[in-house]
Amino acid sequence: MGLKRMVPHGACILFRILGIVCIWSAFSFGLTGAARAELDLKKVIGPNACAECHKDETEAWKKSHHFSTFRDMPRSKEARTIARKMKIKRIKSKSLCLSCHFTSRLKKKKPTPISGISCESCHSAGKDWEMVHSGFSGKGKPELESKAEAAARWKKSESLGMIRPHALYKLAKNCYSCHVVPQEKLVNVGGHPAGSPFELVSWSQGEVRHNLWYSKGKSNVEAKPNRRRLMYVVGLAVELETALRAVGVATTRKTYAFKMARRADDARKKMAEAAKAAPGVPELANIVKWGHSAGLKLKNNAALTEAADNVVKETLRLLAKNDGSKLAGLDPMIPKADKYKGEPPK
Ligand code: HEC
Ligand code: HEC
Ligand code: HEC
Ligand code: HEC
Repeated sequence: MGLKRMVPHGACILFRILGIVCIWSAFSFGLTGAARAELDLKKVIGPNACAECHKDETEAWKKSHHFSTFRDMPRSKEARTIARKMKIKRIKSKSLCLSCHFTSRLKKKKPTPISGISCESCHSAGKDWEMVHSGFSGKGKPELESKAEAAARWKKSESLGMIRPHALYKLAKNCYSCHVVPQEKLVNVGGHPAGSPFELVSWSQGEVRHNLWYSKGKSNVEAKPNRRRLMYVVGLAVELETALRAVGVATTRKTYAFKMARRADDARKKMAEAAKAAPGVPELANIVKWGHSAGLKLKNNAALTEAADNVVKETLRLLAKNDGSKLAGLDPMIPKADKYKGEPPK
């Protein structure tokens, strides 16, 4: 039975989730949250290597929290409190913290942080694809490369793991692998936030924005309207997917379970609004349907995982069929520049 049927009204959902989880939490089971898809640390080449060609993007990155967290986080009072509660002595040698707060490399086989959240945390470890993506098929210059060769070069780069901006699902999934924290103990015992109030358009177009390459550093261009529409729905779909999975691994009736259930419920409500505003895109209604297919309760991992997997399928189908033009009805919902998180660097 889904949350929706138990709880017809929207207000005070937290309390109600509490009530519902109470009913179903007679047992707890021993799953811990799946950690984020790890970077292959053997293949990390570091932001300085990218900076050799991508100077402007690197300068932009240096103005973001992703850069400054390297210095600031381990020194903060909150970090020391979390570490104490988790019985962690050195934050920078604990892979639990490393995977989301830093980019690391292997030094003497040990993961060692080299920077904050850098290029490869978002575009994936570069060792295998760095030469491929930049080499213009061995021709050295873009003019000498045919269209077919360029397409093959990008295809190869992606098959070697590169996350390119056009691959919106992968891109968003990667943000969410850090911005939702699926580690129950870290939240309930450590007191770590359960994640960020993340939204893909507003969180990517502010301080994180570095669309400086194709404008040759002249201006940091905003994503185009059609792309913003796709970003909005794909972000929302991944929010729902991630929250469903996070509820699936909850084992106790505490903060973590409540927060994740609330995230999932909020996401499917927003998705229902989107589906209404863009009736020509049936995948949105299907995503809503799957979002309601599994109860937001403990001990329901199989159904929640199935729901999340199907949200992904519908999202990929939507992306394959749409360029964003059929999503114009969503425009009033999509955050505008005044809501962007931080200032886009010049
Ligand atoms: C030797 C120079 C060079 C290095 C080093 C380099 N790049 Fe690039 N990068 C390029 C070139 C050239 C392009 C554009 C290719 C084109 O126009 O087809 C590019 C494009 C990109 C793009 C845009 C892809 C797209 O879909 O349009 C991303 C993202 C990117 N690089 C990330 C990185 C990251 C991350 C690193 C470090 C791991 C890196 N690059 C290292 C030269 C380089
Ligand atoms: C799954 C990814 C993830 C893991 C694992 C993780 N963090 Fe975080 N952490 C985040 C994100 C995302 C934020 C930003 C939350 C926000 O938007 O407010 C954050 C925020 C923080 C903050 C600032 C919180 C505040 O109260 O203002 C501290 C301190 C922190 N983390 C410490 C740690 C420590 C110490 C560890 C290891 C024990 C750790 N984190 C593990 C993702 C993670
Ligand atoms: C927080 C994740 C994140 C980090 C860190 C990051 N990128 Fe990106 N990158 C993105 C996203 C998202 C886009 C597409 C943004 C958009 O569509 O508005 C992008 C776009 C790009 C592009 C295409 C720019 C253009 O003109 O269209 C290049 C090149 C690139 N990144 C290189 C880098 C390099 C080099 C670094 C490190 C200095 C880096 N990125 C760090 C997420 C990231
Ligand atoms: C490897 C983990 C990781 C990935 C991947 C990641 N982030 Fe973050 N992000 C963090 C952490 C941790 C913080 C908090 C840093 C701090 O302030 O200490 C953060 C902070 C931010 C902030 C600043 C928030 C604030 O409170 O001002 C923005 C904006 C942001 N991220 C957007 C993005 C976007 C957009 C993507 C994907 C394109 C992304 N992030 C991918 C871990 C990550």
